[in-house]
Amino acid sequence: MHIYVTRRIPEAGLAVLRESHPHFGLNPEDRMLTRHELMEKVQGVDGLMSLLTDKIDGKLMDAAGPQLKVIANYAVGFDNVDVAAATRRGILVTNTPGALTDATADHAWALLFAVARRIAESEKYLRSGKYSGWAPMLFLGGDVTGRTLGIIGVGRIGQAVALKSKGFQMRVLYCDETPNSVIEREVGAARVNLEELLRQADFVSVHVPLLPGTRHLLNRETLRLMKKTAYLINTSRGPVVDEAALAEALRVGIIAGAGLDVYENEPEVHPDLLKLENVVLTPHTASATIGTREKMATMAASNVVAALRGEKPPNLVNPEVWGNHRAAGR
Ligand code: GLV
Ligand code: GLV
Repeated sequence: MHIYVTRRIPEAGLAVLRESHPHFGLNPEDRMLTRHELMEKVQGVDGLMSLLTDKIDGKLMDAAGPQLKVIANYAVGFDNVDVAAATRRGILVTNTPGALTDATADHAWALLFAVARRIAESEKYLRSGKYSGWAPMLFLGGDVTGRTLGIIGVGRIGQAVALKSKGFQMRVLYCDETPNSVIEREVGAARVNLEELLRQADFVSVHVPLLPGTRHLLNRETLRLMKKTAYLINTSRGPVVDEAALAEALRVGIIAGAGLDVYENEPEVHPDLLKLENVVLTPHTASATIGTREKMATMAASNVVAALRGEKPPNLVNPEVWGNHRAAGR
């Protein structure tokens, strides 16, 4: 059984692989593989551990060969994997749900505070030697405690963001296809439609997966529904927000500010965003804590190992493959 890992992940995960597959393949360089390299490296592998920066489509699966059994994505999001293509080929696809819920929710809060309290902007000002003493009007920001938090999408991460609002006595609104009784009970959250949420929230935090229906959910029109004093936080996937429309909204004051961890065409960031002071930008690091990345690595590795043993991997995203998989004796 051959396993290939497209880029070095924390040792905890590699150790799990090594136990049962001492000779797995690993990209020796700390960089993303090119498409060409990836197409070559996957040839003949039974298990592939991929990152959200690897595009795993049908072509790549065919380049790997018919023995490919499992694609274990080292991420909770799996929009980089063509799951339908994998399902058609009887390939199991797994992700790392739960491992990064708190880290990502914490980061959403970090961005929320950073932009509301102008942390990045004022820190840069101080370091550049401009601070000449306390001043009544220096870096006035937005209030957080007691304000209204609007959460778009309450899966695990959106729910965690909502629960963490307790300490700041916020009114919580959310929109989702399904009601969430946990946040309704714990923080008195109210389920509203998207338009109402955007009109009322002082902070809008996005936690939906990237799907055809969520692409550009925040666009020129929907951004205009937000308050001029409101802030947008995005730790989900870049294409959920129309980045050009957001840059324009921030530039002309349609909204007050934004905190972003994800971008439409990573690693590119819209040049206008780079010039604006009212947006805090982090390099897709919401899950980047030592403990979280270790958990993700262990989970992804356990998924590969289980699948190659013929067991159902714990974090299967295309369970419909499982029955067929068994029937085909793979
Ligand atoms: C990070 O963006 C992830 O999906 O894990
Ligand atoms: C991620 O864990 C989510 O479902 O929101």
